[in-house]
Amino acid sequence: MQLLPGLLWLLVSGSAALEPISLSIVIGAASVLTGYLSYPSFYCGFVECCPGEADRPNTTALKEDLDNKLFGQHLAKDVILKAVTGFRNNPNPKKPLTLSLHGWGGTGKNFVSQFIAKSIHKAGQKSKFVHLFIATLHFPHEHQITLYKDQLQTWIRGNVSACARSVFIFDEMDKLHPGLIDAIKPFLDYYEQIDGVSYRRAIFIFLSNAGGDLINKVALDFWRSGKDRKQIQLKDLEPVLSVAVFNNKNSGLWHSSLIDKNLIDYFVPFLPLEYKHLKMCIKAEIEAGGKKINEAIVDEVAKEMTFFPKDEKIYSDKGCKLVEQKLLYYWERL
Ligand SMILES: *[C@@H]1O[C@H](CO)[C@@H](O)[C@H](O)[C@H]1NC(C)=O
Ligand SMILES: *[C@@H]1O[C@H](CO)[C@@H](O)[C@H](O)[C@H]1NC(C)=O
Repeated sequence: MQLLPGLLWLLVSGSAALEPISLSIVIGAASVLTGYLSYPSFYCGFVECCPGEADRPNTTALKEDLDNKLFGQHLAKDVILKAVTGFRNNPNPKKPLTLSLHGWGGTGKNFVSQFIAKSIHKAGQKSKFVHLFIATLHFPHEHQITLYKDQLQTWIRGNVSACARSVFIFDEMDKLHPGLIDAIKPFLDYYEQIDGVSYRRAIFIFLSNAGGDLINKVALDFWRSGKDRKQIQLKDLEPVLSVAVFNNKNSGLWHSSLIDKNLIDYFVPFLPLEYKHLKMCIKAEIEAGGKKINEAIVDEVAKEMTFFPKDEKIYSDKGCKLVEQKLLYYWERL
């Protein structure tokens, strides 16, 4: 066992500094070694491995992320935590987990998809098992929709074959050409296998601004009638949301069989953010940058944002989206 410390050193320095070819030799050495030790987590400390049956998602980390970095979204927080934990604790899911996140920009949809990815794959969005598709980037041309459908099916089949717990995130669903998303319907359905591949352990997340207006209206109605927004329940929003998205030509899910056939497990509403939530984002951003919170500057930054509706000015119309950029101007004074 004298060999082990030396090899460990080689692995550590190797993974940091060596060229890809020598690195693959080092990894080869590691896999031989793991064969001897039958201790795969050793190997997976250096090379990202697809999580197996024994690997639980880190729901503590997911809960912490949702508690500490997502503001003003009591519905999304609850639904996401329950959905992901429940899905992962089910030894035999009958279909992949499919979540559709809705709300205006800057309300935290992207954040949440990253937290989910990170709870399944440590490297989060950098993981080779987490795939992000952006409508305007990956599928820009309407006339190539047939090609895109083929590509999408090939990619998903390839990726799920390589790792059953792959995570697929579709951003800008509202900019996706109608019909394109139906190409993935077979993968989301209740099939045990398709051509020898089971998709039941994968996760699909759709991000969309569609339905945002409707969510804002419900939030505003609650506010105007003097009720706390925390009283808004999923049942106030989820059913109307799925109908609205189905009937909206610019939702990416217009007349989609995914909705028709009930293949989307949860429609998750993201509420518009108030002044106080904006301040929470600003503070979190300052702390993440390693600076001390200065209330006066927090107020100044928050006041730079614009709010709607015109009369009451309750909600930030870009959510927390521009906080990072705006803060740059104040960074020296913090
Ligand atoms: C899960 O996440 C928590 C909080 O980030 C961390 O302390 C813990 O070590 C993680 N557990 C595993 C098994 O990675
Ligand atoms: C996995 O998906 C990516 C797109 O995110 C694609 O480029 C890649 O070819 C796919 N891998 C396989 C094995 O199909």
